[in-house]
Amino acid sequence: MVKIDLSFVENLTLKERAALVSGKDFWFTAKAPQVDRMMVSDGPSGLRKQNIDDPSIKDVNNSVEAVCFPSSALTASSFDDQMLYQLGHHLGVAANAEHLGVLLGPGVNIKRSPLAGRNFEYFSEDPLLAGRMGTAYVKGVQDEGVGVSVKHFAANNRESQRFTSSSNINERALREIYLSQFERIVKLAHPATIMCSYNRLNGTLNSQNQRLLTDILRNEWGFEGLVMSDWGAVENHVAALKAGLDLEMPGKGQESVDEIVAAVKNGQLQESTLNRSVLRVLQVVEKWGKKVTKANDYDKDKQHEFARQLADDSIVLLKNSDNQLPLKDDQSLAVIGELAQKPRFEGGGSSHVNAHHVVTPLDAAPNNAHFALGYRLTDDSEDNQLEEQALKLAQNNDRVVFFAGFPENMETEGIDKETISLPSNQNTLLEKVIKVNPNVTVVLQNGSVLEMPWADKVPAIVETYLAGEAVGEATWDILTGLVNPSGKLSESFPLRLEDNPTYGTFGKDPENEDYHEGIFVGYRYYDLHKIPVRFPFGHGLSYTQFGYSDLTVVENNDDVKISFKLTNEGKRSGKEVAQLYVSNHVSRVEMPAKELRDFAKVELDPGETKTVTMVLPRRAFAYYDVNKQQWKADNGDYEIMVGSSSRDIRLTAKFELTIGTSPLGPITDESYVGDVWNNNDSKVQNALHDSGLYDVLEPMMADKQWVAISSNVPLRSLALAGISKKVHDKFFKLLEQ
Ligand code: BGC
Repeated sequence: MVKIDLSFVENLTLKERAALVSGKDFWFTAKAPQVDRMMVSDGPSGLRKQNIDDPSIKDVNNSVEAVCFPSSALTASSFDDQMLYQLGHHLGVAANAEHLGVLLGPGVNIKRSPLAGRNFEYFSEDPLLAGRMGTAYVKGVQDEGVGVSVKHFAANNRESQRFTSSSNINERALREIYLSQFERIVKLAHPATIMCSYNRLNGTLNSQNQRLLTDILRNEWGFEGLVMSDWGAVENHVAALKAGLDLEMPGKGQESVDEIVAAVKNGQLQESTLNRSVLRVLQVVEKWGKKVTKANDYDKDKQHEFARQLADDSIVLLKNSDNQLPLKDDQSLAVIGELAQKPRFEGGGSSHVNAHHVVTPLDAAPNNAHFALGYRLTDDSEDNQLEEQALKLAQNNDRVVFFAGFPENMETEGIDKETISLPSNQNTLLEKVIKVNPNVTVVLQNGSVLEMPWADKVPAIVETYLAGEAVGEATWDILTGLVNPSGKLSESFPLRLEDNPTYGTFGKDPENEDYHEGIFVGYRYYDLHKIPVRFPFGHGLSYTQFGYSDLTVVENNDDVKISFKLTNEGKRSGKEVAQLYVSNHVSRVEMPAKELRDFAKVELDPGETKTVTMVLPRRAFAYYDVNKQQWKADNGDYEIMVGSSSRDIRLTAKFELTIGTSPLGPITDESYVGDVWNNNDSKVQNALHDSGLYDVLEPMMADKQWVAISSNVPLRSLALAGISKKVHDKFFKLLEQ
């Protein structure tokens, strides 16, 4: 095999090089002398490899059969890094067998608005969770010798006008919410490629965004891989190459080659810039394009079993009053809803998989189940005859399992939603069913959050999201108790769409999306404003109960170690996702009430206790300091919160961080009297005393009201308090010494 280095690149003709920085076609990189083409295909929840073996098939959506795993909305609910690694592993095995060099996924954008059309394909509203899930997934795929493309970089949080609209975000929110999951994945999992998104960021197209693609991604985070464009995201190829994009996808054929050749010839594009990108393309092809055939490892039935386990590990038991679930063998069952027969198990668009073996909930239903269609998915009008049959069935059976969810056309790439209400025929029928038989379990199939006006009236709700091709088996695993549920919500379910901070502004302006809520996305917003939600972030029940105790917090030289005990207090084995949140009480910038900083999924037998230890690095206490353009952890008061969800905190401990830096800057004339007075630095205290400032301030600081006022008086205005310029100057002189 030829050695790929800069001199190899320099020996290629200009035309050959120009051809390499664009895709040969929809799915292949271009060939070069002694370098073969490499195929890429979509993920993230299964392969969407176009069926290229049959030349009569021109449809990009006609893909080879592959196992359809649960969509990311569900897999993130596992809160299980190991499971995500395993998912990556299986995808890698499949991609290898199908001779793919790079898998286009995972998508790690943040769920900012419940209306965003692609939420089903993304992990979370929380960047730590999205970053952890993404990191594990990427490692799993790449450990199989297949590269990934982490997408869509960055701030691609809506589908409407996704090619042109500008995501206008302040720097702090950008760093903390919209970039930090990418940063984590880049630093910890070293993805082969990053896919830049269609949209603009603060006015600049991402495909030509030098700050994003070069300054931040490469220079700050040390990314060494290739940046490819989302399909059709490039407007000006030359500008894109200069900004740090390497590969335009899918490429415009000869036109792409000609424009690059011309740009080099007329001096618009330096050869060194072109060569840099050519080298990156060839390095990726060299590293990930060669396939060691492991086709024998690729067993779709085994992968189907994993798809089932992953769904089992992720499905969220939202509500379970009076132990409605698990269902008992001797209870007769009415299964209602077309979704039991024609389940939603995947989203629409580029992530659509030609599933290997779909098992519907109806296929997998126990023998004591009787079925009624109830409603149709094709339109939302009520059908009296179907309703009557369903009500009769509900009346004549002990328990009802009602399947509800969004129809496919509501959740697909390329369009945003207009509502998060279920189709009205489903809501109406459900209300009627509850009246004839209150023992209803609602099973939800949806890609993202929905309103549940009936939630208080049903005893049990199970969120299965888009559960992949093993949807039927996994649903009954949970309902019958074969599997003890352990999924937790990776997003908050508001009571109403109107409660979300983006309500009324999301998608309104075709060309601008203003992220006016800043860092207050998801629970960061609801919790700060104490807004009641239907189900909070991190929520999920089990058929057993877990107890939390013995929280300790110890600060070390570089990190903070937190330990607590977790006990299974119930009668059956189960897994709990213990969540650690940090509340910052010191920093003088706006702060959410708390932020997720670590989590662990722990398996416990009945009666068993395990000690869980989490180590938080300094960064876990940091916010992005916009003025200094760096992460800053302030010394001072924090609260550690450990719990079973963001609103079920079981243990708290206050503690003072000392491994960070002072929350106050150096003392200047702008510093406030109160801050200087309370500054513990011995130099400051000595200057206060020796200048005489201490003596004149002391009586005032003893006065409660003046103390409050003093926090608003800067040193330059000491005269207000009758303090002479002489004392003021002496204080500063002493401080300088
Ligand atoms: C999507 C990407 C996808 C690409 C190729 C684009 O429209 O945004 O996620 O990887 O198409 O199918």
